[in-house]
Amino acid sequence: MNETSPVVIDQDKCIECFECSRTCPSSTLYEKNNTLMVASDADVRCIRCAHCLGVCPEDAINIPSYTDDSDIIPIPEHTIDPETILNFMRARRSTRLFKPEPVEKKDLDVLIDAARYAPSAHNDQTSEFTVITGEMVQEIKKTMLDEASLLVKAIPEDPATAAEMVKKFLPKTSSDVILSMLGSMKDLIRDMEKGGRDRIFWDAPALIVISAKKKSAGFSAALENACLSAAYIMLMAESMDLGTCSLGILIWTIATTRKVRKLIELPKGNRALYALAVGKKATNFKKLLPRNKPKINYVE
Ligand SMILES: Cc1cc2nc3c(=O)[nH]c(=O)nc-3n(C[C@H](O)[C@H](O)[C@H](O)COP(=O)(O)O)c2cc1C
Ligand code: SF4
Ligand code: SF4
Repeated sequence: MNETSPVVIDQDKCIECFECSRTCPSSTLYEKNNTLMVASDADVRCIRCAHCLGVCPEDAINIPSYTDDSDIIPIPEHTIDPETILNFMRARRSTRLFKPEPVEKKDLDVLIDAARYAPSAHNDQTSEFTVITGEMVQEIKKTMLDEASLLVKAIPEDPATAAEMVKKFLPKTSSDVILSMLGSMKDLIRDMEKGGRDRIFWDAPALIVISAKKKSAGFSAALENACLSAAYIMLMAESMDLGTCSLGILIWTIATTRKVRKLIELPKGNRALYALAVGKKATNFKKLLPRNKPKINYVE
């Protein structure tokens, strides 16, 4: 293999045990006549998952695209039993009241560092992270509120006419649901304009917007990848006693409102896919809470 190969085998160290080729998901590494082979089209075939490096008993594999050696360490013995991890995951609930004090940058960095390790389709690692803090959080919130007020003012007072108008944009949604949505939106605006509870970001001091390059090869699975990145952030935050709340409202507003898009300054060519509020929790749950029983269909 030439120097630009995505996976380099140190022939002096290799004992031809073929652990790596058995693990390789793309047949970039394979066994032929009892010899370890690297596919001639390795550059396009290899997904840089590093599984081969992870199983090699002789440290004979190098993936040159990963340049930080400190990112490769022996796996610590697993110390979390299933009950502990289940209870920990159950303890993560959406935070709907944050303390206004800022989250330290080093803690935000830890959250995003954790998200790097989330799985991604084809190991494309499409997720990119925009972190919003300080006055900009307030400015985005105010802009969202102003835009929502304008929208609501443009909708007729008469419920039947209002439902008919909105139905043009949401043809599959029933009139009852539309009227209920409009009612909640009006309540939210009225409440917040009177200086009441922040029902957009719940007073969070930081926001994380996960986006991906629209023109990247992996964009077709970027939403799934972003959801997994967000899940890793949420669990990491819980371990640091930080609260998080998913913000569908922000993703929807970024998609529909130019003014908000402008404030958020996503990297060029990116689409926002998932957003989270992050901060210190101002309320704490005292109990693990129920969910619906799972709907499972075993097929044998
Ligand atoms: C949305 C999504 C789809 C995936 N589809 C496949 C698949 O069809 N086949 C497969 O072998 N792996 C699939 N994977 C696994 C990825 O290839 C894997 O997560 C990635 O290479 C990183 O490796 P890791 O999961 O060991 O961290 C998928 C992962 C995600 C997130
Ligand atoms: S990095 Fe992954 S895909 Fe590439 S050779 Fe190693 S195991 Fe195969
Ligand atoms: S796992 Fe390591 S030692 Fe075994 S065949 Fe692959 S490169 Fe060689």
